[in-house]
Formats: sequence, structure tokens, C-alpha cells
Amino acid sequence: MTTALTPILTAFWDHPQSWKLATYEAHDGYRAWRKALGMAPADIITAVKDSSIRGRGGAGFPTGMKWSFMSPPDGGARYLVVNADESEPGTCKDIPLMMANPHVLIEGVAISAYAIGCSHAFVYLRGEVVHVYRRLLRAVEEARTAGHIGRNVHGSGVDMEITIHAGAGAYICGEETALLDSLEGRRGQPRLKPPFPGAAGLYARPTSVNNVESIASVPGIVLHGADWFKSMGTEKSTGFGIFSLSGHVRNPGQFEAPLGITMRELIELAGGMRDPSKKIKFWTPGGSSTPLFTDQHLDVPLDFESVGAAGSMLGTRALQVFDETTCVVRAVDRWTDFYKHESCGKCTPCREGTWWLKQILGRLERGEGSEEDLGKLLDICDNILGRSFCPLGDGATSCITSSIQYFRDEYLAHLTHGGCPFDRDASSLFAKEGASV
Ligand SMILES: Cc1cc2nc3c(=O)[nH]c(=O)nc-3n(C[C@H](O)[C@H](O)[C@H](O)COP(=O)(O)O)c2cc1C
Ligand code: SF4
Repeated sequence: MTTALTPILTAFWDHPQSWKLATYEAHDGYRAWRKALGMAPADIITAVKDSSIRGRGGAGFPTGMKWSFMSPPDGGARYLVVNADESEPGTCKDIPLMMANPHVLIEGVAISAYAIGCSHAFVYLRGEVVHVYRRLLRAVEEARTAGHIGRNVHGSGVDMEITIHAGAGAYICGEETALLDSLEGRRGQPRLKPPFPGAAGLYARPTSVNNVESIASVPGIVLHGADWFKSMGTEKSTGFGIFSLSGHVRNPGQFEAPLGITMRELIELAGGMRDPSKKIKFWTPGGSSTPLFTDQHLDVPLDFESVGAAGSMLGTRALQVFDETTCVVRAVDRWTDFYKHESCGKCTPCREGTWWLKQILGRLERGEGSEEDLGKLLDICDNILGRSFCPLGDGATSCITSSIQYFRDEYLAHLTHGGCPFDRDASSLFAKEGASV
């Protein structure tokens, strides 16, 4: 059994009152903020750059570099906006983090905002999680009462305001520019880039949009140093991350581990497969927007470079596990339903394409399609990928193209069976027919 876990952000989640300020302060809470207040903002950016931390929201852009790409101060407002929308199917790390330890995010926001010259930061939270919204509001109040935020923090002359904003629940509002439009009170749709938010973001002012986990990792880097952070992970994918395992494992949940851990090790940490007699069939390394992996990929190190080289993306480390009793066509059909529903409608390839993908997948799953439909699916995916206005469209194609790559026979078996050969106990039936599952 691997001992690779690195509980840092999750260190005291099992404490009976892990979300309270007193608990956080008993675990070094707000020490990094006090240290940061004695540092020059530029030195904090240097420490974050030296740690080589890459954004934890999916794209993996280096956090320190993003901050240093912001337009230089001109005396006007500058903003930090934390992306807490977390709506990717399978991703379940930011919401448990904010629920169990909201203060590590608030401390990270205070330090990061100070580093980029911002005195009013925003956390844009997915609207459905009302319990997390309440918890964050309460934690901000606790931090304010203790003097960690507000005016003239700890007599330093630094002002720090934090607003928690609840969105209305749309996957596209996790895309950073759609998020900014939504935060400004408009309909959440992506903006044309450039200008990038670092030049003209919230209210057209220089803005850094960062993921919850990226910002929550900053206090540790400031307190313990860049070398401490780099002592975990791989050379190019440094540090630790929260991997969320769901699906057919015995103990699903969040596992905080160095980047580079493998799926085989994580499944072991999750107590193995739910039914040990069943093999893993397919899994998502980074949520449903990333190409599927199979049992051939269990030993791929889960870092940005290795997952990319193996044909997928690390994304948000949302590891959804499906064993051999699952129909891949049905799973892909359900994900496609999600993308069709969440397409914001701004551009034609995604708005029309996801609708057609759903129609074709539906008839294939019901065994009513034809072999030609597979070519049609791939053709539509080709017209969406790289031709959509934002990455939502690209992401919608990943599970389709990769499932056809690995499980073409299973699509065809739906046609020969006149429906799903996996219904109920039909996995054995399907195996008998000799199709490759
Ligand atoms: C459709 C879509 C949804 C996204 N949802 C999220 C999200 O919920 N949380 C998040 O941090 N990033 C999300 N992103 C990525 C953001 O656009 C952005 O890259 C990220 O917030 C930057 O933070 P980071 O640099 O700390 O990773 C999404 C992107 C797209 C295209
Ligand atoms: S790809 Fe186009 S339609 Fe789809 S969510 Fe992005 S902007 Fe909207």
C-alpha cells in the first residue's frame, strides 16, 4: 500500500469543528498572512513563481506567472477573483475544501490579493451549494472579527475586503470570462480574448482569476517556502493536489497526494474496486471534459506532462471510475446530455453540435442507429473541436472520440443487439458474444 498521501489542505478535515477559526489557528492558521504582511508584494509573487505551482482549476497555467502578467498598477482598482464554481462532472474538491476548511481559502485570498495589489477580492461560488455559501459567509465574519481582514489589518495599513458571491448555477460560469460577466450582473457567457483578464477583467480592471485550490495552496508556500512545495510532486508538476475519486471504488472521496501518483495507487488508497471481481473498464483522469483512459493507463503518473503524453489531460483530477458492468455508450450519452444542456449558445459549433451529438448517441444507445452514425459523431466532433468559442465545446467531444477509439465494438454491439447489451446482468451476455469490453 502506498504511503504517498500528503495531507496539507485536508490535514484536519476530520476534526469535529474543522471549519472554525479557533481550529484553523491551532493549526498555524493565519501565520502565513502575518508573515506576508511583513513582506513586499513582489517577494510573495516571487515565492509563488519559485514554487512552480500550476493552476489547479484545470488548465494548469503557472499561478505566479499569471500574477506577474497583470497590467502594472496605475492607481486604480485591481481584483482577485476566486473561481469556486466547481461544476465539472466528477470534480469534487473545492466544495469539500471550502466546507471543511474555509479559512485556508480566506487566508490564501488575503495573501494573494495583497501580492497583486488588490484590496477587494471576490469568491464566485456555485449557487446550488447554499450550505457552503453560509459557511464562507460565517468564516469571513470570523476573520473580520479577529482582525485578519477589514481595514488596517493588524495595524499594517493594509485594507482587505472579501465578498462571497453566489452564482445561479451554470457550468459555463466556471469559464473565467463568463464568470466575470456573471459577477458583473450580466448573462454568463465567455468574452472574446484578448483582452485577457490580467489586462481588462472585472469592471475592465486588471484581474486575476484563480481556482480555490490554487489560492488555498498559497499560505503553505509563503509559510514553508517554495522548496518545501517543490519537494513534493514531479519536476514540472510540483506540489500536492486533491484527487477526487468517485464511482466504482470501495471508499470514494478526496485524496490529497503529490502530483505524479498513479491511478493504481489511488484505487488502492480508496480500498480497491467496489466489487473486487470486476475489472476497471474506463476512467476520467480530469473530469468528463478529458479523454477517457482504460485499464492500460493505471500506471500513468498523474501529472500534467505524463497524462498529456498518454493522450488525455490532468484537468481537475476528477477520477471517475467505471468497472466492466458499465455501458460506455450510456455513460457518454449522459455526459453529452450535460454538455448539450450547459452549452451557453453563443457559438454555432457547440450550440448546434452538442444537440446533434446527443440525438445520435441517443439512437445508438437504443440500438436504432447505424454504423455510419459513428463516422457522423466523429465528423461533428471534428467540427466542434478547435472551432468553438470556448473550451466547453472542445471538452464535449473528449468522451465521444476517446470512447470510440477504445470501445468501437461496444457501440456496434448496440446495433447488433437492437439495444444496450449491458442492461441488468447482461455484462456476462456481452462478454459471451465476444465483443471487446
Ligand atoms: C466550461 C468551463 C468551466 C470551468 N469551470 C471551472 C471551475 O469551476 N473552477 C475553476 O477553477 N476553473 C474552471 N474553469 C477554468 C477557468 O476558466 C480558469 O482557467 C481557472 O479558473 C483559472 O484558475 P487556475 O489558474 O488557478 O487554475 C472552467 C473552464 C471552462 C471552459
Ligand atoms: S463553446 Fe460556444 S456555445 Fe459552447 S459554451 Fe463556449 S461559447 Fe458557449
